[in-house]
Amino acid sequence: MKKHYKTIKFTFATALTGLLLAGLTACGKKDSNSPGVEFMPDMYRSPSLEYYSTHTIDGDTADNAMLPVKGTVARGFIPYAYENTPQGYEAAGLNLKNPLTSKSREEYEKEGEVIYGKFCIHCHGATGAGDGKVGGKLPGPPPAYNGALKNLPEGKIFHSITYGKGSMGSHASQLTQEERWKLVYFVQKLQGPKETATDSTATK
Ligand code: HEC
Repeated sequence: MKKHYKTIKFTFATALTGLLLAGLTACGKKDSNSPGVEFMPDMYRSPSLEYYSTHTIDGDTADNAMLPVKGTVARGFIPYAYENTPQGYEAAGLNLKNPLTSKSREEYEKEGEVIYGKFCIHCHGATGAGDGKVGGKLPGPPPAYNGALKNLPEGKIFHSITYGKGSMGSHASQLTQEERWKLVYFVQKLQGPKETATDSTATK
């Protein structure tokens, strides 16, 4: 008799739990798109927060991400001392020297040529004559490296690649300083030997 009681109790408990569960999960069943009762809604849909904004959850307000400390410098950043002014251009021409000296000039020229083929050739052309597919169509095509730019000093070459000049844009964000200096070696190769008699860059 006792055993019988136990079975009844067990069946009853199971039925009750079943009913309860069915009741919970059946909520909102009328709408087939409704997920019914969500036990942990945040697990299904995490709240979307904008970067660098503030949010309030349960009355607490906090920043979503910390901004870098003021004056933070990106890793690998090397400051460039010459300003984007005519004076900065002249000063760079006088004082700025190529810091890449650990490999041979030929090696740097080769590496510079590869970068030139990706970033410069379409304007300046393969020989630097200013006859690239894009350069030739510009209102003011680039001057030839071994013509009007023959005596352009390395500092000015670097300065102009960094800040841009005329219809040539700045290449500082695409190329590291090292890559720009490799380009300087290659541009100098295209300039050919310097003329000592006249300085065609004096008025530039
Ligand atoms: C959109 C076309 C264009 C691209 C791309 C371009 N240049 Fe130029 N570049 C010009 C033009 C135009 C000038 C002439 C600017 C002036 O004197 O007004 C010029 C001028 C120069 C000068 C002479 C600057 C001076 O001080 O007189 C150098 C050196 C030079 N470019 C190198 C490069 C190198 C290296 C690259 C590749 C990283 C490059 N350019 C990419 C169009 C371009």
